[in-house]
Amino acid sequence: MHHPYISTVEMVYDHGLLIIRELKDPMSRILITSALPYINGIKHLGNLAGSMLPADVFARFQRARGHEVLYICATDEHGTPAELAAAKAGQDVRTYCDEQHLIQKNAGEAFGLSYDWFGRSSSPENRELTQTFCEALDKNGLIEERVDKMVFSIDDGRFLPDRYVEGTCPHCGYDKARGDQCDNCGRLLDPTDLINPYSAVSGSRNLEVRDTRHLYLLQTKVEPQLREWIAGKSEWPQLALSIANKHLEEGLIDRGITRDLKWGVPVTKDGKPRPGFEDKVFYVWFDAPIEYIGSTKEYFTAQGDPDGWQKWWRLDQGADDVRYVEFMGKDNVAFHTVSFPATILGSGEPWKMVDTLKAFNWLNWYGGKFSTSMNRGVFMDQALKLLPADYWRWYLVANAPESSDSSFTWEQFQATINKDLADVLGNFVNRILKFTESKFDGVVPAGGEAGPLEEKLYTDISALLVEATEAFEAMEMRKAAQAVRRIWVLGNEYLQEAAPWTAFKTDVERAGVIVRHGLNLVRLYAVLAQPIIPFAAQSIADCVGVELPLAWPSMDAKAELAKLASGAKVQSGEVLFKKIDDDMVAEWAARFGGSEA
Ligand code: MF3
Ligand code: ZN
Repeated sequence: MHHPYISTVEMVYDHGLLIIRELKDPMSRILITSALPYINGIKHLGNLAGSMLPADVFARFQRARGHEVLYICATDEHGTPAELAAAKAGQDVRTYCDEQHLIQKNAGEAFGLSYDWFGRSSSPENRELTQTFCEALDKNGLIEERVDKMVFSIDDGRFLPDRYVEGTCPHCGYDKARGDQCDNCGRLLDPTDLINPYSAVSGSRNLEVRDTRHLYLLQTKVEPQLREWIAGKSEWPQLALSIANKHLEEGLIDRGITRDLKWGVPVTKDGKPRPGFEDKVFYVWFDAPIEYIGSTKEYFTAQGDPDGWQKWWRLDQGADDVRYVEFMGKDNVAFHTVSFPATILGSGEPWKMVDTLKAFNWLNWYGGKFSTSMNRGVFMDQALKLLPADYWRWYLVANAPESSDSSFTWEQFQATINKDLADVLGNFVNRILKFTESKFDGVVPAGGEAGPLEEKLYTDISALLVEATEAFEAMEMRKAAQAVRRIWVLGNEYLQEAAPWTAFKTDVERAGVIVRHGLNLVRLYAVLAQPIIPFAAQSIADCVGVELPLAWPSMDAKAELAKLASGAKVQSGEVLFKKIDDDMVAEWAARFGGSEA
């Protein structure tokens, strides 16, 4: 990992020797993935805030920094959640997934999520990769067939893995616990733990426990390699690291990686159906992370470059200079620090592994969980019917659940938008442009010298540019948003103090200097707004006649505030941000839930 604006050297270990080499080209390749959203319905704002959105902000920032970014995501389409949701919708699973994939893809685009590819874990690419991984693990002696006891439904004529069986939790007595987890006490369960179990398909209690054969990945044998790998990750953001270490302390167990289901990746041996596994598929958590690679392969195949994915994922094909960053909610960390790395390390093949893992806590809804069934919370499609994407993006990034869980409330949302976007940013842009139109014919004024107020502005903004850049680089979303906001505030303070409307009456040239700086601030705001509020960034850029994308600013504010050519045309646009009034809040709170739970 290197920070191009801090240093132009990098240190690498080569056969145990520390080599310091000059970076000829500080541009680097950055691979970014966000946890793959489940296919079972459109995601709520909490899901967005904890993986896809921060990944997008980071991707947009790094592109503006001049790096070659590949941002990959996909729908996670296998497993019991998909089958059950399809059954509930009265559709066959394939049709259900086709439809839901498009819905999620479109919602992501509408939110400005700038995926280079949004793939599907049910793709042929992922099927092949998943089977290849398992066969490699098998050859390395890390796969074992074991006979398990599983719940079988006589009336349904099938096994009931994971969520297919429900019943009473042995720990807390909750009577709708699911076979994989109790939603009441949060404990992980095994279907055979449930008291009074019944089928989630038919409700039948005519169940018995039968033997069934499954593949186990012998994680215990990969444990030393895994520990060594994680030991090298002390630079990871704290949340990810602490969860990873907690799981390692609990110790690794061998893990069943197949299920008695029809929908999923078929199990093979030597490229043919594996004897005894004809009616089984891989467990969804085995194939889902492999889809990070699968989706990349889908992308390059669609570009007519079917081998192009390898330079991002194969260390023997040039991927060793890729920096790979993963974004996800905290419940996903174990799968990305233990299970998936065990798959990769166990394969013995030179795959690219994650360099930095950024995890998020929960975004709650008034201190409780988002809940579809209880009408609590807003889903991505609903949100965009209320307000433009940037309003949500700004709020969710500025209040990202980083060091602890955070809560969405309509009141806080309203206050944040009205203050940060409407009063601070929108008002500044509008004010300076209107003034330029009325007093300077809508052109950037020429002439005059910067004075002490401008010198102070340069110093203050330069310091904040460093702060913002470092925060984005470190993926500290709240800090980054705050630094950007403080730069907006500085602009307002500058304008207030310099008061071009007063200066204009006695000294037009001085007023011109101030207006020129104000308009250059508008340009700078468009540049800085790109990662978090990309749509507004475009509108702001339009006002001062510049085209996006624009490169991330240098840390030299004096130079940044001299970029607009004197004489260039500028133009006030439509109101950038409308305020959210109390009536809107009252209506939305009634519709989507919003009083204390
Ligand atoms: N679908 C999972 C979830 O929503 C995340 C899968 S991430 C992957 O929790 F990498 F495994 F795909
Ligand atoms: Zn329980």
